[in-house]
Amino acid sequence: MQRQSDGPAIQPHQTPVSRETEQMADGRIAVIGTGYVGLTSGTCLAGLGHEVVCGDVDPAKVERMSRGEVPIFEDGLQELMRQGIAAGNLTFVHGARNAVRGAKFIFLCLPTPDGGDGRADLRIVHQVVAEIGPLLDPGAVLVTKSTVPVGTAEDITAALARDDVSVVSNPEFLQEGTAVRNFMKPDRVVVGSDDRAAAEAVAALYDKLNAPKVITSAESSELIKYASNAFLATKLSFINSIAGLAEVVGADVVEIAHGMGFDERIGDKFLKAGPGWGGSCFPKDTKALATIALDRGVSFPLLAATTLSNEEAQDRMADKVRDAAGGDLAGVKVALWGLTFKANTDDLRDSPALEVALRLDTEGARLRGYDPTVSQDLPAKNGYPAVPAAGDAYDAAAGATVIVLLTEWAEFAEIDLTKVAEVAPGAVIVDGRNLLDPQAAMAAGLRYVPLGRREARC
Ligand code: UGA
Repeated sequence: MQRQSDGPAIQPHQTPVSRETEQMADGRIAVIGTGYVGLTSGTCLAGLGHEVVCGDVDPAKVERMSRGEVPIFEDGLQELMRQGIAAGNLTFVHGARNAVRGAKFIFLCLPTPDGGDGRADLRIVHQVVAEIGPLLDPGAVLVTKSTVPVGTAEDITAALARDDVSVVSNPEFLQEGTAVRNFMKPDRVVVGSDDRAAAEAVAALYDKLNAPKVITSAESSELIKYASNAFLATKLSFINSIAGLAEVVGADVVEIAHGMGFDERIGDKFLKAGPGWGGSCFPKDTKALATIALDRGVSFPLLAATTLSNEEAQDRMADKVRDAAGGDLAGVKVALWGLTFKANTDDLRDSPALEVALRLDTEGARLRGYDPTVSQDLPAKNGYPAVPAAGDAYDAAAGATVIVLLTEWAEFAEIDLTKVAEVAPGAVIVDGRNLLDPQAAMAAGLRYVPLGRREARC
């Protein structure tokens, strides 16, 4: 779909539209689940002027949020949340039941973890639907916001067994770290339902954003979300494999991405090579889409290759660290710069940095990590090794043989490399995000190993 001109940017500091003018016409919104998606969506919907009640199972969290405390690290969220609370159109309550009473729109923002076999585990969604179904007002619209498999809207409709309640899919496209901006200035709003009027009513909640609206069947909407995430993951796996090839043939992946990105059919986004992609969405959604296809007997080999290529990117990063250490990591002190799955988040879930840490730990490396959002030692968890946390990047680097930059935090780009060379004389920096200036590293007396490009020599 053609991208329309950007709508008015609604910044967190702007005063929400008055309750009287907006919300009554639309009907009250309940948001069930105040994880990253629910809290951002609920707060932003309130920022658009709607009356929003967020319900969560955790009473202590509800109490903290009611005081304006944001439990996640998300730029601009706290300010917008406090504005909504102060304006009186954003409230937090304990339990789904308390949130849904009198609501016209009920957004389900519930966890849908990997069930272990690649399929999303929908038990929480179904439990909540069973709990709130009988309490919904006639004419209510149940909206699935979290990523759910194709057919979920239909399953919920069947489980509800209520002709007077509609079910609509409205997937989120929020990136951690820029979620408020993504919500307020979306590339598109996707809404899918077999009930066109209900879909249009949900789409109308976003009118102020003046974004392109894509109204589809529920199945298409559900699949748009998976297809978008899996496509982006595939793009990243592709450029990471190109990085591996570039190193062998003496090319430069940064130049290649630059040259490719001018082609509007390709686009210049999501072409930065790195230590693989991770986070709570791409790995889970790519596997889930592969399973959806498999379950329906549809061949989709690209998805398995996308995941495999990602594992290989992580392997290659560990290989580079081993090579930098002279071929053997046993007992070698390695500093990890960055632990989160990307910059500007405190999220460690499925972090490529931890995947690389695991590979290095298995070979006997002595790890020490620094991340701006990690203040305590990471315990061994979910198959990942324990990583002692340093107070800053220099502290982590002290005495290290190899420093590997894994997350593209801006503060690493500003680092004083002379000071690094003082605390880690003769160290090799393996730059897994091509973030540092190779000349500056060399001038400081450090060996610098980039990713997917030639190593600069003096
Ligand atoms: C992703 C999608 O981008 C969102 O549109 C989607 O709504 C969200 O998942 C979701 O399903 O909830 P997010 O998980 O926050 O958002 O992460 P991204 O910003 O997409 O980054 C994913 C991974 O790709 C990170 O590990 C990041 O470092 C890596 N990446 C991204 C690169 O290695 N290079 C790039 O050029 C871009």
